[in-house]
Amino acid sequence: MRTKLSTLSIKIGLFTLFIGVIAGISAMTVDPAIPSSGTLDKQPIAFSHKSHSGKEEIACLYCHIYAERSSVAGVPSVQKCIGCHKMIAIDDPEVQKLLTYWDNREPIPWIKIYNVPDFVYFSHRMHLNAEVACEECHGNLLEMDEVKKVSSLSMGWCLECHKKMKAPIDCNVCHK
Ligand code: HEC
Ligand code: HEC
Ligand code: HEC
Ligand code: HEC
Ligand code: HEC
Repeated sequence: MRTKLSTLSIKIGLFTLFIGVIAGISAMTVDPAIPSSGTLDKQPIAFSHKSHSGKEEIACLYCHIYAERSSVAGVPSVQKCIGCHKMIAIDDPEVQKLLTYWDNREPIPWIKIYNVPDFVYFSHRMHLNAEVACEECHGNLLEMDEVKKVSSLSMGWCLECHKKMKAPIDCNVCHK
C-alpha cells in the first residue's frame, strides 16, 4: 500500500511537472524537443525524398502504402526499390549498397525518426480521412534529401492542432 501510494504521488508529481513543461514549451518560439540539426544518426543508404518525390514526382503513398488504411504508414520493402533500381542508376555507389542488401536478401535497417511512445494511440488512417496533409506533421519532404524531424510529437503539439481543428481532446482518445 505504502509503495502504491508513493508511486501514485510520484506519478501525480511527474504529471504536474509535465504540464509545467508543456506550458514552458508553448511559451517559447523554438521547441527544444526538436534537434536543430535534424537526425543525429546516418541512414544506411542516402535515400533522398527530394530526388524521388520532388524531382521524380513519385507519390508518397506509392511507397508508404499503409498510411491510408492503417495506423502505420510503413517503409517500403527492398523489393519495391529494386522494381526501379534493377535498371536505374545502378552505377551510383548508394544504389550499389541497395543492390547488396537485395543480393543478400537482407532488409535495410532504416533508422526511425518519428516515434510516439507505446502508451500513446496514433493512427495515420484517421488523420488522412480527415484530410490532414502529410506536410502538416512531417514538413515539406519534396525539399529534403535527408528526413528531418520537424515536429516535437509532444502532447502539447497534438492538442494544439486538435483544438484548432475541433478534433476530440478527451484523455482516452490518445491514452487507451
Ligand atoms: C521511393 C519511395 C518513397 C517515396 C516516394 C516516399 N518515401 Fe518517405 N521514406 C522512404 C524510405 C525508404 C524511408 C526511410 C528512410 C528515410 O528516413 O529516409 C522514408 C521515410 C519517411 C519518413 C520518416 C519515417 C520515420 O519516422 O523514420 C516520413 C515522414 C516520410 N518518409 C514521408 C514521406 C512523404 C510525406 C512522402 C511524399 C512527399 C514520401 N515519404 C515519399 C521511401 C519513400
Ligand atoms: C518508381 C521508381 C523508383 C523507386 C521505387 C525507387 N527509386 Fe531510387 N531513384 C529513381 C530515379 C528515377 C532516380 C534518379 C536517377 C538519376 O537522376 O540519375 C533514383 C535515384 C536513387 C539514388 C541515387 C541518389 C539520388 O537520390 O539521385 C538512390 C541511392 C536511390 N534512388 C535509392 C532508392 C531506394 C533505397 C529505394 C527504395 C526505398 C528507391 N530508390 C526506390 C527511381 C526510383
Ligand atoms: C497528424 C500528423 C501526421 C500526419 C498527417 C501524417 N503523419 Fe506520418 N507520422 C506521424 C506520427 C505521430 C508518427 C509516429 C507514429 C508512431 O510512432 O507510431 C508518424 C510516422 C510516420 C512514418 C514512420 C513509419 C510508421 O509508419 O510509423 C512514416 C513513413 C510516415 N509517418 C509517413 C507519412 C505519410 C506518407 C503521410 C501522408 C500520407 C503522413 N505520414 C501523415 C504523424 C503524422
Ligand atoms: C495537424 C493537426 C493534427 C495533429 C498535429 C494531430 N492530430 Fe489527431 N486528429 C486531427 C484531426 C483533424 C482528426 C479527425 C477528427 C475527426 O475525425 O473528427 C484527428 C483524429 C485523431 C484521433 C481519432 C479520434 C477519434 O475520432 O476517435 C486520434 C486517436 C488522434 N487524432 C491522435 C493524435 C495524436 C496522438 C497526435 C500527436 C502525436 C495527433 N493526433 C496529432 C488532427 C491532428
Ligand atoms: C491528442 C492526443 C492526446 C490527448 C487527447 C491526451 N494526450 Fe497525454 N500524451 C499524448 C502524447 C503524444 C504524449 C507523449 C508525449 C511525449 O512523450 O512527449 C502524452 C503523454 C502524457 C503523459 C506523460 C506520461 C509519461 O510518463 O511521460 C501524461 C501523464 C498524459 N499524457 C496525460 C494525459 C491526460 C490526463 C489527458 C487528458 C486531459 C491527455 N493526456 C490527453 C497525447 C495526448
